[in-house]
Amino acid sequence: MTPTLPAPPGDPVLSLHDVGITFQTAAGDLAVTHKVSFEVAAGERVGLVGESGCGKTVTGLAIMRLLPAHQCRVAGSIRFAGADLNRLPEKDMRAIRGRDVAMVFQEPMSALDPVFTVGSQIAEAWRAHHPRGSAREARERAVQALAQVGIPLPEKRCDEYPHQLSGGMRQRVMIAMAIICNPRLLIADEPTTALDVTVQAQILDLLRELSERTGMALLFITHDLGVVAETCTRMITMYAGEVVEDAPVDTALARPRHPYTSGLLRSLPRLSAPGSRFSAIPGRVPSPARMPGGCRFRARCGHAQPPCSAAQPLQAVAATGEPPRWARCMRHAELDLPGAVAATALAGAQPP
Ligand SMILES: Nc1ncnc2c1ncn2[C@@H]1O[C@H](COP(=O)(O)OP(=O)(O)O)[C@@H](O)[C@H]1O
Ligand SMILES: [Mg+2]
Repeated sequence: MTPTLPAPPGDPVLSLHDVGITFQTAAGDLAVTHKVSFEVAAGERVGLVGESGCGKTVTGLAIMRLLPAHQCRVAGSIRFAGADLNRLPEKDMRAIRGRDVAMVFQEPMSALDPVFTVGSQIAEAWRAHHPRGSAREARERAVQALAQVGIPLPEKRCDEYPHQLSGGMRQRVMIAMAIICNPRLLIADEPTTALDVTVQAQILDLLRELSERTGMALLFITHDLGVVAETCTRMITMYAGEVVEDAPVDTALARPRHPYTSGLLRSLPRLSAPGSRFSAIPGRVPSPARMPGGCRFRARCGHAQPPCSAAQPLQAVAATGEPPRWARCMRHAELDLPGAVAATALAGAQPP
């Protein structure tokens, strides 16, 4: 594949259309996402939120084409830099993965090899896409990348082994490895969940700063709305394998248009709007093996009515003058759903 020029700010770098992920299991086919569609523009930081099991991680893995091909089918298209990643030959995908699109995971220790120095592992990530680069240049790049992610004494750190670093430092190493080829899109899957609050805040600052400085788009997967308020420009809510809301982060938090987003916000103590009480959403996410028809949230929704048993499309719901936004709720126009007091008040808030 010939390298493509970076997209101008505002143009989509990533565009998912009707992505349906199905696992083939001993118990039969399990559809874990259904018609997932969204776009991520250059320089945009998109938070992908929802409770555990809603399909966030599998969506990230589908973009990276890291789902096990022998037990998983992916329908729909995943357009990136003019190609459909879902249909690209593996050879071309290997050229893109790690160079143009990279991913960092929650647990850095399991992704780092304990027997190699961090410097050699970062250098390897660069050499995989620059086979003619010298060992010396690869090491220089590794030192540079460590400096870029705010690791002091990067020359010295390069020669250390993963176990010699703290959890926060290891996550910085993973980010250094992910950004060493200057990807246009970074997918971060709960990258700070295992870290303490101070270190978490530093990593979030780092990701935001990298995206602002380089125009790198960020798809930030998290169950933590406080992290999204702090880091992202847009928020996509997933419920039971579907996108149920997609909106700029400020309006999504202040005036959610889907009862599930509003429910997630109200389940954050202290931060719910005055007059609405803190309350966890009753019940749980339905399992893919027993997915209800119609609105998948209706069994847990305080606003459900008989027509909600019909399939709900994702609809454009922006008021006049508002930037575009979408919600998958037929009652979006009539409900006045409580949001957070202020998006800024959410920053740093922990879910219960
Ligand atoms: N390898 C697999 N085989 C079968 N089901 C899976 C597999 N991986 C994930 N799932 C199912 O896919 C759904 C979405 O999972 P996941 O993307 O990990 O959720 P999230 O990241 O939002 O917590 C869950 O119901 C999960 O049990
Ligand atoms: Mg996950």
